[in-house]
Amino acid sequence: MADCRSIFEATRHTGHPRFLGYIGSVSTPVGAFADLIASSLNPNVNSWRGAPAATELEKIVVAWLGSLIGYGENSQGFLTSGGSMANLNALVMAHRVQSPEQVSEIGFWNLTPTMIYAGERAHFSISKAADIMGLGRNCVRTVSSDANFRLDISNLRQCIETDLGKGLRPFCVVANAGSTSTGTVDSLTEIASVAEEYNLWFHIDGAYGAPAALDPRKCFLFEGIERADSVAIDAHKWLFTPIDCGCLLFRNYDQIRDSLSFGIGEYLKLHEETEAESFAFWDYSIELSRRFRALKIWMLLRYYGVERIRAAICENNALAEYFAECVNTAKDFELLAPVELSICCFRYVPSSLAAKFAVADETQRETLNAELNQLNAKILYAIQRNGKAYLSNTTISGKYALRVCLVNFRTTRADIDQVLDLVREEFFNLNYSGSSIINN
Ligand SMILES: Cc1ncc(COP(=O)(O)O)c(C=O)c1O
Repeated sequence: MADCRSIFEATRHTGHPRFLGYIGSVSTPVGAFADLIASSLNPNVNSWRGAPAATELEKIVVAWLGSLIGYGENSQGFLTSGGSMANLNALVMAHRVQSPEQVSEIGFWNLTPTMIYAGERAHFSISKAADIMGLGRNCVRTVSSDANFRLDISNLRQCIETDLGKGLRPFCVVANAGSTSTGTVDSLTEIASVAEEYNLWFHIDGAYGAPAALDPRKCFLFEGIERADSVAIDAHKWLFTPIDCGCLLFRNYDQIRDSLSFGIGEYLKLHEETEAESFAFWDYSIELSRRFRALKIWMLLRYYGVERIRAAICENNALAEYFAECVNTAKDFELLAPVELSICCFRYVPSSLAAKFAVADETQRETLNAELNQLNAKILYAIQRNGKAYLSNTTISGKYALRVCLVNFRTTRADIDQVLDLVREEFFNLNYSGSSIINN
């Protein structure tokens, strides 16, 4: 027990109200009990025959998730270990459905390259998926962002047209419904229309942001989600469910089944009597052995109910706006990206540097920016080691940003005030004397 305690003490507490780095995963007592029960029963949810109740529950939970985010009442899909696995599985499906002739005995080496389009702020699991699939890293075209950090629609068209001109084969476009770095939701309706025009599979990566569709003030951002061929959403990010719990939603099992089912081993052959009995997740999912993940979503929704989940998400979005307001009104902070959902990117700008910026020419600004980048990196380093709060970082237009992501129902305004004070405190602790420009 003493050894266990030392491990617990050295574990980062992502459920702490001031753990605001990355996209924290926040659990609940109900989620923990669900996991305990799932591990005790320990069914292998690979097929209906192997785990009938768990399979039925997973189908129910998947349909609930689809309806919560506006994808549709009759969504189909399955639970995954997380967003990366959901994205990989989606791209595999997309490739099989869109380019069935490329299901090859020898790999893709001699075939026309097939292309995926994703914004520059797409999660790295998209490129990783293309790499794993053997498509080649160059098969993911990076589409530039517009001024609001959204995937630029005219650049998307340009990229597709250029590739068609080269004889390449576009097959999929990936939109962000809540980018990891800034929380931006791409223009889903416009991307859906481009996908329809060019006959591309439309995948939405909503691993982080999709639950925000529950917020009445934000749901307009998710218009068009219902037009996607597939959507990734992580219950273990913003639906307060313990890791691991991702989900891939799509329209129709049948569409995928033909493209992904393999001649399974004799030991798994199903001798079914009804259609339900013949259902097997291995026809769709990359995984074979699978945990009873559905139980924790089912128990969470049954215990807390949608309204409490919605309230927690609305509160997180409101807190991010409060954070941005504090940053905007303070003289020593700068907001680096608009707050769309619950992520806020900002930096500390000491008054001495702010004054220099005001009168600097282009070259001096670059030097000052490099100085600020170093300074904010040092502040972050100090905060991460201090233990009172945890922030992460990103880069926005060449600027090193401190980044907070609010996905915890325990976080309050007082925590946010404390975080901003902490940034100032760590700045003062650095005894910063500034660069030559600053001292001039
Ligand atoms: C937008 C987005 N997609 C996918 C992922 C990967 O999710 P997971 O860590 O569950 O694999 C993340 C992780 O932060 C993400 O932010």
